[in-house]
Amino acid sequence: MKSLLVTGGAGFIGSNFIHYMLKKYDDYRIVNLDILTYAGNLENLKGVENNPNYRFVKGSITDDQLVGKLFREEDFDYVINFAAESHVDRSIEDPAIFIKTNIMGTQILLDAAKKHWQTGKDSQGYPAYKEGKKFFQVSTDEAYGSLGETGMFTETTNLAPNSPYSASKTSADLIVRAYSETFKMPVNITRCSNNYGPYQFPEKLIPLMIVNCLKGKSLPVYGDGMQIRDWLHVKDHCSAIDSVLHKGKPGEVYNVGGNNEKANIDIVKLIIDTVREKLSSNPDLSNHNYQLSTINYQLIKYVEDRLGHDRRYAIDNTKITTELGWSPSYTFETGMSQTIDWYLNNQDWLNNVINKDYLEYYDKMYSSK
Ligand SMILES: NC(=O)c1ccc[n+]([C@@H]2O[C@H](COP(=O)([O-])OP(=O)(O)OC[C@H]3O[C@@H](n4cnc5c(N)ncnc54)[C@H](O)[C@@H]3O)[C@@H](O)[C@H]2O)c1
Repeated sequence: MKSLLVTGGAGFIGSNFIHYMLKKYDDYRIVNLDILTYAGNLENLKGVENNPNYRFVKGSITDDQLVGKLFREEDFDYVINFAAESHVDRSIEDPAIFIKTNIMGTQILLDAAKKHWQTGKDSQGYPAYKEGKKFFQVSTDEAYGSLGETGMFTETTNLAPNSPYSASKTSADLIVRAYSETFKMPVNITRCSNNYGPYQFPEKLIPLMIVNCLKGKSLPVYGDGMQIRDWLHVKDHCSAIDSVLHKGKPGEVYNVGGNNEKANIDIVKLIIDTVREKLSSNPDLSNHNYQLSTINYQLIKYVEDRLGHDRRYAIDNTKITTELGWSPSYTFETGMSQTIDWYLNNQDWLNNVINKDYLEYYDKMYSSK
């Protein structure tokens, strides 16, 4: 049996990863450590909560006592650190929690892993570790900052994050690198592009637009909407992490991306067209009282651009594809169609997420723009 500590496993990517791993490996035990912020949702894990290979622990990666206790109890082989404050807009409003969770939390996990995994010292005085251990940091392409109209981020592109969110993730990324260099800790770092798919909290572009479309609310688009992102289906991100975890060379960084650059405004229009088409062709959805007539491009509302908004991200994924043989399996068209179906078919999940606090927070945020 392999023992994994997955942090932030009640969030969007972490919960998809837990489903993916428990389905693929029946000899892996997963402990999910998650504090359940507004973005953490145990409903994402329905179906695995009674799996004997799964344990949920409510708590913070910044709690060194708890993290140490879990290491002693579970003797982890791998740590996969998803836990983070993850929304750029919130980091502009209140950076402090991003520094605490994303940077200090990562350092606490690294220290616990080092302490628990170290067996002694090698001949050069570096720490030596038990066999087969790995610390995995889920970083982001936002660490590289913004591109002009051409070029792509490679793993050696200078790190130049622009938002408090990306700066905190970059700091964590560099601390993980430092533990690899200074303490020879077995680590991998992935820097992935924008993910989409099921269980994503509706504050990020794609689920926010789907939800607002369904509710007939305006679709807030920052600036001219021509910001470009590379998009990857979350299950392809999970398979990339699986590849790097098992085949990645210790100490290496791998970019993960889908070769799929899209302007934000084109995604918003695609969502409007697809939601309209699905609602008009599926009479089973009519009992949800959707107002088909209101779902059109007039819902688009251009709002004041985000401060420091990065213009373009594009990922060169040559290293992971050639060295590890990973490649994405979803086309954007299929992935988006399935994602929209998922939101249409999971109304209970959506209604629980779109609660009073959510509506107050986002109505206030977008009405001020
Ligand atoms: N979403 C993307 O497109 C994307 C792309 C690249 C990298 N990433 C990275 O992947 C990771 C997961 O992203 P996501 O979109 O699933 O985020 P998310 O916001 O959906 O989930 C984050 C999870 O972390 C938990 N968490 C927050 N603070 C915690 C703490 N102190 N202790 C324990 N748990 C805590 C939250 O409760 C939540 O369940 C993040 O590190 C993010 O930076 C995300």
